[in-house]
Amino acid sequence: MSKLRFLITAGPTREVIDPVRYISNRSSGKMGFSLAESAAERGHHVHLISGPVSLETLSHPYVETTRVESAHEMYRAVESNILQADVAIMTAAVSDYRPSSVSSQKIKKTKEEELVLHLERTEDILGSAREKMGFAGILVGFAAETEKLEEYARGKLERKNCDLIVANDVSRSDIGFDVPENEIALFYRDGRSESMRKASKNVLANQLLTLIEQLASAE
Ligand code: CTP
Repeated sequence: MSKLRFLITAGPTREVIDPVRYISNRSSGKMGFSLAESAAERGHHVHLISGPVSLETLSHPYVETTRVESAHEMYRAVESNILQADVAIMTAAVSDYRPSSVSSQKIKKTKEEELVLHLERTEDILGSAREKMGFAGILVGFAAETEKLEEYARGKLERKNCDLIVANDVSRSDIGFDVPENEIALFYRDGRSESMRKASKNVLANQLLTLIEQLASAE
């Protein structure tokens, strides 16, 4: 197996509201970090672009890590590095919206019972990889869903022009977000699908890499 260059996004993003508040999500970054570590152990080079996570920086010599905060910073980091990669895996739980304006001062409460926060769309990093960034390598996306797993995952596969979508059901508390185990279903561009039984994210990362290496060698 020839050695590949991976770009992997991981973790949540943080969208600032004011100097003390932000919008984020429950992603721990574990899946992306496990994939990065397993890929490096297989001798591949990895550029890991991570949002704010509490995981320790991977010390493997084949892993380079860039830390970012917001969806926009993650977009810029991916845009600057993706064309050096053979395989891009987007595990990050990127915020789809950010506050339309950031308050430079802490927002004080008022007498009003409601506070309305206006949000605007962030860039879709995975959805920009092909046309906007010109990436022609193997593109893998993740889909975290609470219902209609297959329908939504296949929709993302098509819309975001991926080779593979890794889907998981985040309505279950025993797998997925912020827990060590996951159970995933894979949907390929050629219509094939397969599922992987519940296992630790490290085990799944290894199984997934075997399949991704096969996809890369078939290119
Ligand atoms: N993703 C991304 N940039 C975004 C949003 C998502 O790169 N701004 C990537 C994620 O890393 C993941 C995939 O897209 O690989 C699926 O993200 P998701 O947010 O579930 O997809 P959406 O298209 O936003 O779909 P929906 O909001 O309908 O679930």
